Amino acid sequence: MKGEIPGFTGIMYDTMLPKHASKGENGHLMISGIDSVELAEKYGTPLYLIDEETVRLNCREYINSMKRYFSPGSFPLYASKALSCAAIYRIMAAEGMGIDCVSYGEIHTALKAGFDMENVFFHGNNKTDRDIDMAMDAKVGYFVVDNTEELLAVDSAAGRKEIMQKILLRITPGIDPHTHKKIITGNVDSKFGNAIVTGQAMDIVKLALKCTNVNLCGLHCHIGSQIFETEPFADAADIMLKFIADIKNETGYDIRLLNLGGGFGARYTNDDPYPVYSEYIRILSEQVKKSAENLRIIMPDIILEPGRSIVAEAGITLYTVGSFKEIKGYKSYVSIDGGMPDNPRYALYGSKYSAVIANKVKEEKSVCCSIAGRCCESGDLIAEDIMLQKPERGDILAVMTTGAYNYSMASNYNRIPRPPIVIIKDRKPRIAVKRESFDDIIMNDI
Ligand code: LLP
Repeated sequence: MKGEIPGFTGIMYDTMLPKHASKGENGHLMISGIDSVELAEKYGTPLYLIDEETVRLNCREYINSMKRYFSPGSFPLYASKALSCAAIYRIMAAEGMGIDCVSYGEIHTALKAGFDMENVFFHGNNKTDRDIDMAMDAKVGYFVVDNTEELLAVDSAAGRKEIMQKILLRITPGIDPHTHKKIITGNVDSKFGNAIVTGQAMDIVKLALKCTNVNLCGLHCHIGSQIFETEPFADAADIMLKFIADIKNETGYDIRLLNLGGGFGARYTNDDPYPVYSEYIRILSEQVKKSAENLRIIMPDIILEPGRSIVAEAGITLYTVGSFKEIKGYKSYVSIDGGMPDNPRYALYGSKYSAVIANKVKEEKSVCCSIAGRCCESGDLIAEDIMLQKPERGDILAVMTTGAYNYSMASNYNRIPRPPIVIIKDRKPRIAVKRESFDDIIMNDI
């Protein structure tokens, strides 16, 4: 599946802009139907913008295609590590998505947003006793148990509380997808889960079946993130189904729920394919059906756990340009009023982004430059050597595809306050997360 646009026959259009952005007649970038320069003036910069319609349509693509291609009990969870704030959990609840939470902080946010805790799957490779306790008190539906000690801790906490806790076990299928090595998770040498090849996966299944206060509902795996090929997912599904068959043979127990994780890629630049998630799901479903038939096991209900593919393309970040510096004979830098505190992904992974000067969007991209943040750190870059319209102090720079793993990974490095999130729906912007103030920064200082 190499990302051609289905049915596309014409000349490539300006792919740097997501569907909800366009070039306004006044030469300004329009975002969700609103002039981006006006948004920057109204809310200040840096500014995270989220197009609600895009988020909702992505949820529906998952929900509808999973209904269509998998068994009736199958459904998607939104992996809320990609973007976690109360407004997003409310959108997920309205769309009928379950959620993946990886910390009590995410659970707390969802709880306060009124999200139904029964539809929460609690992940993480090291849940503390306090996390376990609080999550059970909040009545979190499912724990995705990472390891043996955690299993025993969950079992005994459930025993003390006299509840039967539903669990999934995290399994490492031993898949090496083609993505950045820091975001691979399904290989054997991983901090997550229990490897099938070492026999530890079967051991933890047997132990879970002996536990008296947990109900083993299913298995979970997640192979990595920003993956465009379907083969690694199909391979993982195949390995997991074989393991389900082995469990049936060795213990007689039927595993009826299989969570295949998240990881579908999002389009950040022209070099990335156009992902069609419904197509990915169709292809994956064929593999699952084929494997289940060959293995003569009951087709399990499937869970998918997308994060990035739900929110990434919905996000655009606006910055104000401070300077444009040409180092004669070397390269050029445009400095912006944000950087690694609001988007650490280039610093961490060398991730690629597309950007435009939002108030000059109709001008030709004539300069090649790197986008530098304002931190006291030379690695504080958003992108290197990308083409932009000629930037000047006061211009607005828009970076595309920032909805996932930007706000959720933001920090206060150099005591820089985090930007607000403004969600736009039906051309109406609303603040979903307020801009941090300098007093917020010192709030916990004594
Ligand atoms: N499920 C589990 C268990 C995960 O660990 C993850 C992501 C997901 C689902 C969602 O994956 P997605 O659909 O978003 O690819 N900070 C990195 C990405 C780390 C992903 C961690 N786990 C980045 O900025 O690229």
